[in-house]
This record gives sequence, C-alpha cells and structure tokens, in this order.
Amino acid sequence: MKKIIALSTLALAFGLSVQAQTTPVYLDETKPIEERIEDALSRMTLEEKVAMIHAQSKFSSPGVERLGIPDVWMTDGPHGIRPEVLWDEWDQANWTNDSCVAFPALTCLAATWNPEMSLLYGKSIGEEARYRKKTVILGPGVNIYRTPLNGRNFEYMGEDPYLASRMVVPYVQGVQQNGVAACVKHFALNNHEVNRHTSNIIVDDRALREIYLPAFKAAVQEGKAWAIMPAYNLYQGQHLCHNERMLNEILKGEWQFDGVTVSDWGGTHDTEQAIKNGLDMEFGTWTNGLTAGASNAYDNYYMAFPYLKMIKEGKVGTKELDDKVRRVLRLIYRTEMNRNRPWGSMNTDEHYEAARRIAQEGIVLLKNENNVLPIDLAQAKKILVVGENAVKMMTVGGGSSSLKVQREISPLDGIKARVGNQAEVVWVRGYVGDASGEYNGVVTGQNLKEDRSPKELIAEAVKEAKEADYVIFIGGLNKSGGQDCEDTDRSGLNLSYGQDDVIAALAEANKNLVVVNISGNAIAMPWIEQVPAIVQDWYIGSEAGTALASILVGDVNPSGKLPFTFPVKLEDNSAHALGEFVYERSNEVVDIKYNESIFVGYRWADKQKKVKPLFAFGHGLSYTTFAYGKATADKKEMTAEDVLTITVPVTNTGHREGAEIVQLYISDLKSSLPRPVKELKGFQKVKLAPGETKNVTFTIGKDALSYYDDAQQAWVVEPGKFEAIVAASAIDIKSKLVFSLGK
Ligand code: BGC
Repeated sequence: MKKIIALSTLALAFGLSVQAQTTPVYLDETKPIEERIEDALSRMTLEEKVAMIHAQSKFSSPGVERLGIPDVWMTDGPHGIRPEVLWDEWDQANWTNDSCVAFPALTCLAATWNPEMSLLYGKSIGEEARYRKKTVILGPGVNIYRTPLNGRNFEYMGEDPYLASRMVVPYVQGVQQNGVAACVKHFALNNHEVNRHTSNIIVDDRALREIYLPAFKAAVQEGKAWAIMPAYNLYQGQHLCHNERMLNEILKGEWQFDGVTVSDWGGTHDTEQAIKNGLDMEFGTWTNGLTAGASNAYDNYYMAFPYLKMIKEGKVGTKELDDKVRRVLRLIYRTEMNRNRPWGSMNTDEHYEAARRIAQEGIVLLKNENNVLPIDLAQAKKILVVGENAVKMMTVGGGSSSLKVQREISPLDGIKARVGNQAEVVWVRGYVGDASGEYNGVVTGQNLKEDRSPKELIAEAVKEAKEADYVIFIGGLNKSGGQDCEDTDRSGLNLSYGQDDVIAALAEANKNLVVVNISGNAIAMPWIEQVPAIVQDWYIGSEAGTALASILVGDVNPSGKLPFTFPVKLEDNSAHALGEFVYERSNEVVDIKYNESIFVGYRWADKQKKVKPLFAFGHGLSYTTFAYGKATADKKEMTAEDVLTITVPVTNTGHREGAEIVQLYISDLKSSLPRPVKELKGFQKVKLAPGETKNVTFTIGKDALSYYDDAQQAWVVEPGKFEAIVAASAIDIKSKLVFSLGK
C-alpha cells in the first residue's frame, strides 16, 4: 500500500496524473476483446470509422494512426503468398524478398482426402503470410465444382460438399493459429468465370443448402473463419457483395458469423446496398485505384465519402457503420493486436517438405494396365519425356493465385534428378501450348519459343519414342486464359494444342506410355483405350517435379483420389446436360439457372443408367491392392439422437505399403423428396503395411441422413430404411448394409 502511494506521489511530482499511466481499455490485454472493441469504437471519429471499412491501397485498409490501431494487409492466396504490387497499381513493387513457396493447388489438397494435410497446408501458408506481415490470406476457395469448364476450379476443393467441408476446416484453423485470418471465398454460387460480374444465379434452396453452402458453413462454424469474401456474381438479382439473404440472413444471422466480409476486388456496386446488406470492407473498386478523376479514388469508394455524405445528410444512421467497424476491430484484435501470435517463417525446409508431402498424397493414379508404373529403373535405359508441361512453370499465371516463387522444380528436372545416371532421360517438345510466361509483371524467364510445325514435332517425338523404354507424356492444361485461369472458362472438355494427336501417335510408337495430365479440371481422353497408364497431376507448386518423379518411379505409392468426376463427354455433366452455358461476355445481367439442382457431379452420374463416368469421383489406384471385408453396424435401428457406428476391415493384399481412402456413402431407400442415389458422409485414409488389416470405423448421426426441404425451409430427417455403402470410389462399391431410423 505504502509503495503505491509513494509511486503516485512521485508521478504527481513529475506532473503526470495517475490516470495517464493506466492503460486504456482498448489497449489492455487483460480485458476481453469485446470490451476493448467497444472502447476503441467510442474513441473513434466518424471519419476514422468510415476510413477503416474501405481500402487505402490495392491490398490494405487503414487502422487508426492516432490510437495506435494498425492497418490491415491482405494477400492472395490461396496457394502461396502473392508478391507485392505498387500501392495503387497492379504493377510489381519489385521487392527482392517477396518470393515464396508455392503449395499445391487446392484441387490437389482435396485429392489427398487427408484433413491432416489440410492442417499442415494451412499452418505452413499461414506462417509464410505472417512472416510477410499479412493480416488476411484471401483463401481458401470452396466453390463447388459444377462444370469442368470453370477456369477457377483449380483453386477449389472439388464437387462434394462433405469432402470440401472436411478439408476446409483444418486449412482455416492452420492459418489462423498464426494470428493470420483466412478469408474463405467466393461466397457463394461462383461456379464459372465468364460473366462473373453479371451472372445472376437461379438455384433452388435445396441445392443451395445441400450443395453450395455446406463448406462455407463448416468454415465459419467449425473452422471459425475470421473473414469471408462474398463473390462477384449475383443471386436473387443482387450482387453477392451486398446481398441481403446471403450475408445478413444466412451468414451473419443463421450462422452467427462474427468476422468481416471483404468484397471481392471491384465487387461492390452500390453504397446503400453495401451499407445495409452485410458488406464490411470494400476493396479494389476502381481497378487501378486512381481512376474516377479524383485526387484519391479510395475516397470515392462506395463505402467512403458517399457513405459519409449519406450519414451527414441524415439519410442513414450509424448503426450499420458501428457494426462494420466492430467487425474490423475484432479482426485486428485477433490478428495484428494479438501480441501472442507467432512470428512466422518463409521459404523454410519445412514448408518445402509440406508442399512436397501434400503433392505426393494428392497425385492420382487413374489407370495402370500391365503395371507399367512404377518405372522399373533397373531395366530402363532410356526414358523419353514429351510435352510442354514437362518444362513450363505453372506457378505464374491463372489470375490472382499467381505467384513469384523462390523455386519451382519442373517435372522434367524432377525426373532427371531422381533418375540420375540410372537411365538416359530425353525431352522433346511434342506440341506447342502457350510459350509465353508472364503474369502481372512476374516473368518466368523461360524461352519456350518453337517454330517447328505440329507435324515435325510429332515426327520427332515418335522417332524418339520408338527407341525408348518408357515414354512419359506430360501435358494437360496450363494457367493461360481459356485453360485453368481466372476470369475465363474453357471452351470445351478436350485438350488444346493438338495434344490428342501427339498422345495417339505416341501410343502407337511405344506400349510403355504414361500420360500425365496436369490440370485443375477434368479433360476428355479420346485415346484412353490406347494408353496403359494415366496419372492425374495437378498444379503442385514448388515441388512439382520432385513429387511427380517420386510417384513415377515408385518411391512413393500413390494414394490420392479424385475430388470430382471425369465425364466422358461434356454432356455427361449435369450442368451441360440440362442447361446452357454462356460463353459470350455480357455487360448486362444474365440469368444462369442451375437446372440440375442437387444433382451435381456423382449425384448426377449415379442416376444415369447408360452412361458411366470416364473416372468416378473418389477413384484412385495404388501400387498395392486392398481387399475390403464385410461392413457391420453396431445396431440395426437408430434414433435421431443416436450415432451409428459402421466398421469395415480393410487389408493390404499387395506387396508394398500403401494408403487407401475408404469412403462411406449413405443412401435413403425411401423418401418424400427425390434424393441422390447416395451421398458421401464419411471417409478415412488408412495406411497399411503388406498383409496388414485395419478396421475402419465411421460414426454417423442424423445429419448424415437428412435433406433440406425447401417447403419447410428446414433440414428434415425422415424415419425409414437407409443403406450404408462402403466404397473405394463412387462406382466401386465394396460392402453395403441396411439400417433404419426409428421415430
Ligand atoms: C479475385 C479474388 C482475389 C482478388 C484480389 C479477385 O479478382 O476474384 O479471388 O482474392 O481479386 O486479388
């Protein structure tokens, strides 16, 4: 007591008041965040509040300098930390310390079917973001794979809401462990790119709830995502960046989301709607940040001076503004003002290792007749590699996910490094795709110019193929417009650049042909019968070549499975079978109706009597074999309050260690509304030594049995009989059992 009196007396003697020494509540780390937010809010002027909810540069928004509240810095996302651009322009800032590790594209992550890989991914990319002093990563993306033409599917997690939900949650948690926010995008119904600003999606509530929203809901409610990016497109005639139903009713109302909504860049169109319909932060409205003929375009953003003016003229109150600012402050407390968050790290060995492990687990062996793979290095003297994608850098391009990497090992370099002097590795071009290599000022520096004709290139490849022990064709799509690239969609399912002709010619020349398809989308394979081995490789980032080589030579046993269906033809996909796909650009609003409703991906393929997919959802082979025993359940009848446990023994019947992704689908045998034949409700990746058997168990509750009833606007679970289907893919069913749900 004596000491305290003495100290305050001393303070007075030096002219300091006792009060000046106490920490204000908004800075007091012992106080709950919500109290600190209210205190900060009460100290802010109207102008400071409005400033906080819109950008001040291409990727940042201001804090409150006067109060020591820091700025917010955003970065793309979702596969690595994007290089720095100028304050007001997309041009590179030309920093020399902003190159990063490129992690595999999210399609590859989804293909691992391994939530642990997702956590590792989130943790690692979060560390890179933190080191680069970013507040928010603009990712992950979880828009459902509705059509194989969508130029952005590579940034998403496939066609199934359950798989995407299970994979997105750990990514978000991993990122946010670093005190960096994940911004889950693009909320929602952003399932194609052409006309992304003018497509008005018409979808029934059942499909919305069962297909398009679950992954976002899981990210918010289970992952506790701190930020969401509403999409460019429209829904119910309103842009999603200020959409009453999606942002206010569903996201903030039903799901109780307490984070910030961050407009997609240039996705805001109206001040009043932005104020009222749930948008919290406006970014990228004018493309170069300087147009609109004003000294500072940011002041002219919809949620800048126009908002201030409306408040000053009494046209709107400050209730909505305070809510937005509270959310931004909450974001800042969770990130920038969290002194306990780690420091992060960049380009570490651990991050490269994480990128490689995720890639190795995500590569999918689609076909392997006569065990062409793995390559037998003891026998092979010459390995011919054909194709542009064997050498082309894939981390540059594709839109906002484009990166500037510290290193990217190409497939050819990866193969050469692994094969060493065990065999001769020869590369020939085969076809010319897109020889350019630049995105947004980042150049690959590769010279891929080629003047020879397709005929000459094929002749060269065939000649070499005849003398080789193995031929590995590495092609597919790339990150150029019209391939796998933002703001564009593909014009068809077929490969471009005459690749089909090259593959067909190689198949005739050499029976040990392996086709490696690098893409984020399904492709047509008119040559499938002639090609014994096919590998689905993705955009796998910095360790692309190392990971692919380890699979091809069998150092790593493939264990990925497809997160989406490969149709034979475009018309086998429901969006194309039942609807029109708009290829022409339009400045007017275009209605796009999702006629297929809930029948997306395998939910559609399962209903087709005559047509089979080229490769089914969940398909993927291994260099070993697995046998499934009979599935059993712990009870025959359950109630809506119960959980049912299903067990199935799985044995590795081959000669090497491998991992199998065991899938559980549920089928409602009788229901009031039409339901999919079956739906994925569980999966597990099990590692098994040769001869080893493990029991795989799944527990399901009523959520796995319910559907969304539009009429009741509620999830419904109907008593009756259900089937639990244990499968190795959507069409490779191993064991079934019937159980019932009682009243
Ligand atoms: C993309 C977003 C991205 C943003 C910022 C937009 O064009 O749709 O995914 O995060 O730009 O680069």
